[in-house]
Amino acid sequence: MRRPKISVIGAGNVGASCAFWIAVKELGDVVLIDIPEAADKTAGKALDLAQCGPVHRFDCRITGGSDYDAAAGSDVVIITAGIPRKPGMSRDDLIATNVKIVGSVSKKIAEVAPEAVLIIVSNPLDAMVYTAWKQSGFPTQRVVGQAGCLDIARYRTFIAMELDCSVEDISALLMGGHGDDMVPLPRYTSVAGIPVSQLIPEARLNEIIDRAKVGGGELVKLMGTSAYYAPAAGSVDMAEAIVRDKRRIFPCAAYCDKEYGVGGYFVGVPCMLGANGVEKVIEVELDATERKQFDTSVSHVKELVELAQKNMG
Ligand code: APR
Repeated sequence: MRRPKISVIGAGNVGASCAFWIAVKELGDVVLIDIPEAADKTAGKALDLAQCGPVHRFDCRITGGSDYDAAAGSDVVIITAGIPRKPGMSRDDLIATNVKIVGSVSKKIAEVAPEAVLIIVSNPLDAMVYTAWKQSGFPTQRVVGQAGCLDIARYRTFIAMELDCSVEDISALLMGGHGDDMVPLPRYTSVAGIPVSQLIPEARLNEIIDRAKVGGGELVKLMGTSAYYAPAAGSVDMAEAIVRDKRRIFPCAAYCDKEYGVGGYFVGVPCMLGANGVEKVIEVELDATERKQFDTSVSHVKELVELAQKNMG
């Protein structure tokens, strides 16, 4: 039986962190790919990571470079390629650049790994998932975006900090887009089965939700660059669910047509991940306020997709 193969495109902060956790969890062989100008550096990162094997006791092959043939037959491909938003750069300029990058990467992956499940991490996420889907030609089930896993990890961390309890016992759900577009669902949050509303007063919980919403900005301020450990951890959790067919339920950017009445866009919803990618989108009951927030989030996704479409040509 062959080991699963997981390729990571974009070997920057998030990509290299993904490679590290894939290896430590022994999910499969790892292929890191970046632009030709960074081929040596990428090969070096792969070699450096491979040399953790004897210490962490993982037996997987880790290679790096710029040749897409190395990604042939990948089971999962995590796409983190792109440029970060630079000072003075408009959202539209960022989309224009990253649509080109994610589009060309997706096309190349479709050639060498036509059966892979794509996990998109590049931002602006909702536009990039759509781009990857269009340019790869993959079925919707095999294209999914990572944002919710990160947002929920931040939310669970802050709740555990507040209660001084184990993060393992916090179970939560949220929907919609990243940051301001997040739809928090405190009534679907529990601590070892106890509704969070019994443990944290509403006003304080709202402060925690607000901190999770701006969690990315808090880190940019502290580090001078966007976060990478937690985004990578969320992406690798998704990859694990797929290669191990765990059928775990995460908030992901998944294709919704009739689901939630979205009408054919990738939006943040609870979905089950397994060997086929998105095994199912789970429809939960939303009250009027939650529905309104979700609809606002979807309308922003539509605006982003429109911009992406313009840049795809
Ligand atoms: N093909 C492959 N790799 C590319 C390409 C391309 N066409 N264009 C750029 N890259 C690579 C860059 O060379 C760089 O190594 O993508 C990598 C991006 O890494 P970083 O700049 O370190 O960015 P990172 O912090 O990893 O974030 C990556 O994930 O969370 C999101 O918003 C974040 O969109 C960003 C992405």
